[in-house]
Amino acid sequence: MRITVFGASGPTGRLLTEQALAAGHRVAAVTRRTGSFPLRHDHLEVVGADVLDPVAVDTAVEGRDAVLSTLGVPPGREPIRTYSQGVAHIIEAMARHRVRRLGVVSSSGVDPHPYPDAGFLFNRLLLPYVTRVAGRTLYADMRRMEALVRASDLDWTIVRPGGLYHLPAVTAYTVVEGHPDGRFTSRADLAASLLALLDGDRYVRRTVGVVTTADNPTLLRWLRHEALGTR
Ligand SMILES: NC(=O)c1ccc[n+]([C@@H]2O[C@H](COP(=O)([O-])OP(=O)(O)OC[C@H]3O[C@@H](n4cnc5c(N)ncnc54)[C@H](OP(=O)(O)O)[C@@H]3O)[C@@H](O)[C@H]2O)c1
Repeated sequence: MRITVFGASGPTGRLLTEQALAAGHRVAAVTRRTGSFPLRHDHLEVVGADVLDPVAVDTAVEGRDAVLSTLGVPPGREPIRTYSQGVAHIIEAMARHRVRRLGVVSSSGVDPHPYPDAGFLFNRLLLPYVTRVAGRTLYADMRRMEALVRASDLDWTIVRPGGLYHLPAVTAYTVVEGHPDGRFTSRADLAASLLALLDGDRYVRRTVGVVTTADNPTLLRWLRHEALGTR
Protein backbone atom coordinates (compact mmCIF):
# COMPACT_ATOMS: atom_id res chain seq x y z
CA MET A 1 0.00 0.00 0.00
CA ARG A 2 0.99 3.65 -0.36
CA ILE A 3 0.71 5.18 3.12
CA THR A 4 1.13 8.72 4.39
CA VAL A 5 2.38 8.91 7.99
CA PHE A 6 1.87 12.25 9.75
CA GLY A 7 4.07 12.81 12.80
CA ALA A 8 6.62 10.47 11.21
CA SER A 9 9.62 11.99 12.98
CA GLY A 10 8.16 11.48 16.47
CA PRO A 11 9.13 8.37 18.41
CA THR A 12 5.95 6.46 17.46
CA GLY A 13 5.92 7.77 13.89
CA ARG A 14 9.47 6.58 13.29
CA LEU A 15 8.60 3.08 14.52
CA LEU A 16 5.48 3.08 12.39
CA THR A 17 7.46 4.17 9.34
CA GLU A 18 10.05 1.43 9.95
CA GLN A 19 7.38 -1.22 10.48
CA ALA A 20 5.45 -0.15 7.38
CA LEU A 21 8.58 -0.24 5.21
CA ALA A 22 9.53 -3.65 6.64
CA ALA A 23 6.04 -4.90 5.74
CA GLY A 24 6.59 -3.85 2.11
CA HIS A 25 4.53 -0.64 2.03
CA ARG A 26 5.53 2.60 0.34
CA VAL A 27 5.61 5.40 2.90
CA ALA A 28 5.37 9.17 2.61
CA ALA A 29 6.78 10.29 5.97
CA VAL A 30 5.58 13.78 6.86
CA THR A 31 7.71 16.07 9.02
CA ARG A 32 8.41 19.79 9.25
CA ARG A 33 12.13 18.98 9.57
CA THR A 34 12.98 16.89 6.52
CA GLY A 35 16.74 17.50 6.92
CA SER A 36 16.94 15.63 10.21
CA PHE A 37 14.67 12.69 9.34
CA PRO A 38 16.77 9.65 10.27
CA LEU A 39 15.43 6.89 8.00
CA ARG A 40 16.41 6.06 4.41
CA HIS A 41 14.74 3.44 2.21
CA ASP A 42 13.94 2.94 -1.46
CA HIS A 43 10.22 2.93 -0.67
CA LEU A 44 10.39 5.99 1.60
CA GLU A 45 9.61 9.54 0.55
CA VAL A 46 10.23 12.22 3.18
CA VAL A 47 7.66 14.98 2.70
CA GLY A 48 8.04 18.41 4.28
CA ALA A 49 4.67 19.67 5.50
CA ASP A 50 3.16 21.56 8.42
CA VAL A 51 -0.29 20.13 9.09
CA LEU A 52 -1.54 23.67 9.66
CA ASP A 53 -0.88 24.31 5.95
CA PRO A 54 -3.75 22.79 3.92
CA VAL A 55 -1.86 22.98 0.62
CA ALA A 56 1.12 21.07 2.00
CA VAL A 57 -1.21 18.48 3.55
CA ASP A 58 -3.00 18.07 0.24
CA THR A 59 0.28 17.25 -1.50
CA ALA A 60 1.22 14.74 1.21
CA VAL A 61 -2.11 12.90 0.88
CA GLU A 62 -2.58 12.89 -2.90
CA GLY A 63 -2.11 9.50 -4.55
CA ARG A 64 -2.09 7.45 -1.32
CA ASP A 65 -4.18 4.47 -0.22
CA ALA A 66 -4.25 5.25 3.51
CA VAL A 67 -3.28 7.90 6.06
CA LEU A 68 -2.00 7.20 9.57
CA SER A 69 -1.41 10.02 12.05
CA THR A 70 0.85 9.91 15.09
CA LEU A 71 0.94 13.70 15.15
CA GLY A 72 1.57 15.16 18.58
CA VAL A 73 2.37 18.34 20.49
CA PRO A 74 3.45 18.76 24.12
CA PRO A 75 0.90 19.87 26.71
CA GLY A 76 0.97 23.54 27.67
CA ARG A 77 -1.12 26.38 29.03
CA GLU A 78 -1.70 27.95 25.62
CA PRO A 79 -4.68 26.82 23.55
CA ILE A 80 -3.76 23.85 21.33
CA ARG A 81 -5.20 23.51 17.82
CA THR A 82 -2.69 21.29 16.03
CA TYR A 83 -4.66 18.04 16.39
CA SER A 84 -8.01 19.43 15.27
CA GLN A 85 -6.77 21.78 12.55
CA GLY A 86 -4.27 19.23 11.28
CA VAL A 87 -6.87 16.48 11.10
CA ALA A 88 -9.39 18.84 9.50
CA HIS A 89 -6.88 19.45 6.71
CA ILE A 90 -6.11 15.74 6.43
CA ILE A 91 -9.82 14.87 6.18
CA GLU A 92 -10.40 17.55 3.52
CA ALA A 93 -7.43 16.31 1.48
CA MET A 94 -8.52 12.67 1.80
CA ALA A 95 -12.04 13.52 0.64
CA ARG A 96 -10.64 15.50 -2.30
CA HIS A 97 -8.36 12.67 -3.41
CA ARG A 98 -10.73 9.83 -2.53
CA VAL A 99 -8.38 8.29 0.02
CA ARG A 100 -10.63 6.44 2.43
CA ARG A 101 -8.66 4.73 5.22
CA LEU A 102 -7.63 6.93 8.17
CA GLY A 103 -6.09 5.91 11.50
CA VAL A 104 -5.39 8.62 14.08
CA VAL A 105 -3.72 8.45 17.47
CA SER A 106 -5.64 10.11 20.28
CA SER A 107 -5.28 9.25 23.97
CA SER A 108 -7.00 7.39 26.80
CA GLY A 109 -6.84 10.76 28.60
CA VAL A 110 -9.63 12.05 26.35
CA ASP A 111 -12.14 9.97 28.31
CA PRO A 112 -10.43 9.22 31.64
CA HIS A 113 -11.74 6.60 34.04
CA PRO A 114 -10.31 4.98 37.17
CA TYR A 115 -8.17 1.87 36.70
CA PRO A 116 -8.83 -1.19 38.89
CA ASP A 117 -5.13 -1.86 39.44
CA ALA A 118 -4.24 1.76 40.28
CA GLY A 119 -4.43 3.20 43.76
CA PHE A 120 -6.15 6.24 45.24
CA LEU A 121 -3.24 8.55 44.41
CA PHE A 122 -3.33 7.69 40.71
CA ASN A 123 -7.09 7.52 40.25
CA ARG A 124 -8.14 10.44 42.43
CA LEU A 125 -5.19 12.82 42.19
CA LEU A 126 -2.77 12.18 39.32
CA LEU A 127 -5.29 11.25 36.63
CA PRO A 128 -7.58 14.25 37.27
CA TYR A 129 -4.55 16.56 37.49
CA VAL A 130 -3.09 15.36 34.19
CA THR A 131 -6.36 15.32 32.27
CA ARG A 132 -8.06 18.42 33.75
CA VAL A 133 -5.14 20.70 34.61
CA ALA A 134 -1.75 19.95 33.01
CA GLY A 135 -3.22 18.49 29.81
CA ARG A 136 -6.52 20.39 29.74
CA THR A 137 -5.96 22.23 26.44
CA LEU A 138 -4.32 19.20 24.83
CA TYR A 139 -7.17 16.80 25.62
CA ALA A 140 -9.72 19.45 24.63
CA ASP A 141 -8.12 19.60 21.18
CA MET A 142 -7.92 15.81 20.94
CA ARG A 143 -11.67 15.73 21.65
CA ARG A 144 -12.23 18.22 18.82
CA MET A 145 -10.06 16.04 16.58
CA GLU A 146 -12.03 12.92 17.48
CA ALA A 147 -15.33 14.71 16.77
CA LEU A 148 -14.10 15.78 13.32
CA VAL A 149 -12.92 12.26 12.53
CA ARG A 150 -16.25 10.71 13.63
CA ALA A 151 -18.22 13.25 11.60
CA SER A 152 -16.29 12.40 8.44
CA ASP A 153 -17.55 9.70 6.12
CA LEU A 154 -14.07 8.18 5.82
CA ASP A 155 -13.16 4.66 6.92
CA TRP A 156 -11.67 5.94 10.16
CA THR A 157 -10.32 4.38 13.33
CA ILE A 158 -9.39 6.39 16.43
CA VAL A 159 -6.68 4.68 18.45
CA ARG A 160 -6.31 5.67 22.11
CA PRO A 161 -3.10 4.54 23.80
CA GLY A 162 -2.38 4.83 27.49
CA GLY A 163 0.89 6.22 28.82
CA LEU A 164 3.52 5.61 26.15
CA TYR A 165 6.83 3.92 26.92
CA HIS A 166 9.67 2.24 25.10
CA LEU A 167 10.03 -1.49 24.48
CA PRO A 168 12.50 -2.84 21.94
CA ALA A 169 9.98 -5.01 20.06
CA VAL A 170 6.27 -5.46 19.39
CA THR A 171 4.50 -7.59 22.05
CA ALA A 172 1.16 -9.39 22.21
CA TYR A 173 -0.75 -6.14 22.76
CA THR A 174 -4.52 -6.04 23.09
CA VAL A 175 -7.00 -3.85 21.22
CA VAL A 176 -10.15 -3.05 23.18
CA GLU A 177 -13.37 -1.24 22.35
CA GLY A 178 -14.51 0.80 25.35
CA HIS A 179 -12.38 1.47 28.40
CA PRO A 180 -9.30 -0.77 28.64
CA ASP A 181 -8.01 -1.71 32.07
CA GLY A 182 -4.32 -1.29 31.21
CA ARG A 183 -2.65 2.06 31.76
CA PHE A 184 0.33 1.76 29.42
CA THR A 185 1.08 1.23 25.74
CA SER A 186 4.50 0.68 24.22
CA ARG A 187 5.22 2.82 21.18
CA ALA A 188 6.18 -0.26 19.18
CA ASP A 189 2.78 -1.80 19.95
CA LEU A 190 0.96 1.44 19.16
CA ALA A 191 2.73 1.59 15.79
CA ALA A 192 1.93 -2.09 15.11
CA SER A 193 -1.74 -1.57 16.00
CA LEU A 194 -1.97 1.34 13.54
CA LEU A 195 -0.35 -0.65 10.77
CA ALA A 196 -2.63 -3.62 11.50
CA LEU A 197 -5.66 -1.40 10.78
CA LEU A 198 -4.74 -1.70 7.12
CA ASP A 199 -5.15 -5.49 7.16
CA GLY A 200 -8.94 -5.42 7.16
CA ASP A 201 -12.02 -3.45 8.12
CA ARG A 202 -12.50 -4.82 11.63
CA TYR A 203 -12.12 -1.46 13.39
CA VAL A 204 -13.55 0.81 10.71
CA ARG A 205 -15.61 3.64 12.30
CA ARG A 206 -14.53 2.49 15.77
CA THR A 207 -12.62 4.02 18.67
CA VAL A 208 -10.25 1.53 20.26
CA GLY A 209 -7.79 1.42 23.12
CA VAL A 210 -4.41 -0.30 22.76
CA VAL A 211 -2.84 -1.85 25.83
CA THR A 212 0.57 -3.37 26.46
CA THR A 213 0.86 -5.64 29.46
CA ALA A 214 4.48 -6.76 29.01
CA ASP A 215 7.17 -5.02 31.04
CA ASN A 216 5.05 -2.06 32.10
CA PRO A 217 7.10 0.66 33.79
CA THR A 218 6.40 1.61 37.38
CA LEU A 219 4.45 4.84 37.63
CA LEU A 220 7.50 6.61 39.06
CA ARG A 221 9.73 5.43 36.25
CA TRP A 222 7.15 6.40 33.63
CA LEU A 223 6.75 9.87 35.14
CA ARG A 224 10.51 10.35 35.23
CA HIS A 225 11.10 9.16 31.65
CA GLU A 226 8.01 10.40 29.83
CA ALA A 227 6.21 13.13 31.73
CA LEU A 228 9.40 14.86 32.92
CA GLY A 229 11.24 14.15 29.67
CA THR A 230 14.41 12.71 31.17
CA ARG A 231 14.52 9.70 28.84
N1 LIG B 1 3.30 10.51 25.74
C1 LIG B 1 2.28 9.77 26.11
O1 LIG B 1 2.31 9.11 27.15
C2 LIG B 1 1.03 9.72 25.27
C3 LIG B 1 -0.10 9.08 25.78
C4 LIG B 1 -1.24 8.96 24.97
C5 LIG B 1 -1.22 9.50 23.68
N2 LIG B 1 -0.10 10.14 23.22
C6 LIG B 1 -0.13 10.64 21.83
O2 LIG B 1 0.57 9.70 21.01
C7 LIG B 1 0.99 10.35 19.81
C8 LIG B 1 2.42 9.96 19.48
O3 LIG B 1 3.27 10.42 20.49
P1 LIG B 1 4.86 10.49 20.24
O4 LIG B 1 5.47 10.79 21.59
O5 LIG B 1 5.31 9.33 19.48
O6 LIG B 1 5.02 11.73 19.23
P2 LIG B 1 5.15 13.32 19.53
O7 LIG B 1 6.51 13.58 20.02
O8 LIG B 1 4.01 13.78 20.38
O9 LIG B 1 4.95 14.06 18.11
C9 LIG B 1 5.00 13.46 16.88
C10 LIG B 1 5.37 14.46 15.80
O10 LIG B 1 4.30 15.34 15.45
C11 LIG B 1 4.87 16.29 14.58
N3 LIG B 1 4.16 17.58 14.54
C12 LIG B 1 3.82 18.37 15.58
N4 LIG B 1 3.23 19.50 15.12
C13 LIG B 1 3.21 19.40 13.76
C14 LIG B 1 2.77 20.24 12.71
N5 LIG B 1 2.21 21.45 12.96
N6 LIG B 1 2.89 19.83 11.43
C15 LIG B 1 3.47 18.63 11.14
N7 LIG B 1 3.93 17.80 12.09
C16 LIG B 1 3.81 18.17 13.39
C17 LIG B 1 6.31 16.52 15.05
O11 LIG B 1 7.18 16.31 13.95
P3 LIG B 1 8.07 17.49 13.26
O12 LIG B 1 8.49 18.43 14.34
O13 LIG B 1 9.20 16.75 12.64
O14 LIG B 1 7.20 18.13 12.24
C18 LIG B 1 6.51 15.40 16.10
O15 LIG B 1 7.74 14.73 15.99
C19 LIG B 1 0.77 11.85 20.04
O16 LIG B 1 -0.45 12.23 19.43
C20 LIG B 1 0.61 11.93 21.55
O17 LIG B 1 -0.17 13.05 21.93
C21 LIG B 1 1.02 10.25 23.98
